[in-house]
Amino acid sequence: MKNTVATFAKAKKEGTKLSMLTAYDYSTAHLVDEAGINAILVGDSLGMTMLGLPDTLGVTMDDMVHHTRAVTRGAKNALVVADMPFMSYHLSPAQACENAGRLVKEGGAQAVKIEGGAQFVPEIEAITRASIPVIGHLGLTPQSINAFGGFKVQGKSTQAAQKIVDDARALEAAGAFSIVLECIPAELAQIVTDAVGVPTIGIGSGAGCDGQVLVYQDMLGMFDDLTPKFARRFAEVGSLMKEAFAAYHASVQDGSFPTKEHTFAAPEGIFEGVK
Ligand code: KIV
Repeated sequence: MKNTVATFAKAKKEGTKLSMLTAYDYSTAHLVDEAGINAILVGDSLGMTMLGLPDTLGVTMDDMVHHTRAVTRGAKNALVVADMPFMSYHLSPAQACENAGRLVKEGGAQAVKIEGGAQFVPEIEAITRASIPVIGHLGLTPQSINAFGGFKVQGKSTQAAQKIVDDARALEAAGAFSIVLECIPAELAQIVTDAVGVPTIGIGSGAGCDGQVLVYQDMLGMFDDLTPKFARRFAEVGSLMKEAFAAYHASVQDGSFPTKEHTFAAPEGIFEGVK
């Protein structure tokens, strides 16, 4: 069954937890989709995990369209959400709407995600007016690391916590159908979750959220540049890949690969005249 914004609304109403994982290419999206994950986020985290950038700030609209297009080809049932990269929605509602439109028209995304709170209400209203569903993103919003002074847990004072709750209400009122809560204390995430009628999707924000999202390389042990405390490793795929690569290298070197079963033959004698 295809997951849609209606699936998200129903899950909140019925108390069913939602699962979301990132993916940035066709084959990963296909695996995530077949595993029954509700939504795939083509996160701008691809700047770090796929492109080797130090943060997400250098990711472009073209990068996002390129990866979103690959993911949507691999996702049959998961809702595909594409991140709007840094500076693709900050200038005006018109700019936000145009770039969200590109992610849908060129990338095939079914929704977009925007980092930030009440300051982006006009942009979210413009995008939802164009019938493009929007997910908000509060707490540790990686596009703001220069303003935050690094990757730090957010909402740790009464004032900061109140702002996050107020922002969540503003996002819902603007039309966001879900809100990602990144790296805020679990108690605060629960307050936000109870305060809004749309599902919250947590990352490093505790079990009280209506769903969870992880970067797939983090949960598979494939990315060591940054190892967030909240990312449980569900498998050690990175080690497995390294072992397989090393075994391939050794087999090539000692001549044990390829063998007859990996090669092609032709009818006898046909190469006799070939010089
Ligand atoms: O870019 C991303 O992968 C994200 C998640 C961490 C929520 O925004």
